[in-house]
Amino acid sequence: MASVFFAVPGAFAEALIQTPRQTEGPFYPDHLPLDTDNDLIVINDGLTPAVGEITWVSGRILDLKGDPIRNATVEIWQCDANGAYLHTGTGNATKRDKNFQGFGRFVTGSTGEYLFRTIKPVAYPGRTPHIHYAVKMKGHEKFTTQCYIKGEPQNEKDGVLRGINDAKARQSVIVPFSPIKGSKAGELAAKFDIVMGYTPAA
Ligand SMILES: [Fe+2]
Repeated sequence: MASVFFAVPGAFAEALIQTPRQTEGPFYPDHLPLDTDNDLIVINDGLTPAVGEITWVSGRILDLKGDPIRNATVEIWQCDANGAYLHTGTGNATKRDKNFQGFGRFVTGSTGEYLFRTIKPVAYPGRTPHIHYAVKMKGHEKFTTQCYIKGEPQNEKDGVLRGINDAKARQSVIVPFSPIKGSKAGELAAKFDIVMGYTPAA
């Protein structure tokens, strides 16, 4: 009996959940740090690292078919270990960790991957811990979303997170922050893929 092979376009694409758009919020840096690279722990060649649980946050920027998107500028920003943002309007301004970069950028290559070294975000009044993301692509409106920590009890009460009505879409922005095996410094890793609602023109 001959075996029949069906090519099913979109069979995998259906499993991909488009990352929900989330508010940019009020704390995108109103003045960018002197250093905007993907290492938020050390500013330029500073000697004192940021305070917090060091976390490697990585993932891929994908289109709806699951193909990687290159030349996307990925930006993250978040509060420091004291809940302070790199923004003049932040809470806890006097306690801001001067050694935390608070913001970083990464431009994707052909694999669509990005990587940041940052800290595990902490809660601040009114919000469960989260990392803000912006994805910028030529010819497209800036896309903003937020990434959350699996298992955080405050996730249940967070108004922004709960604002994502679709349960699958909501789950897609909540990821594990897991200890890296063998890391003596207790570093964590988190993986957050972002699925855009468009396919770049070839
Ligand atoms: Fe925030």
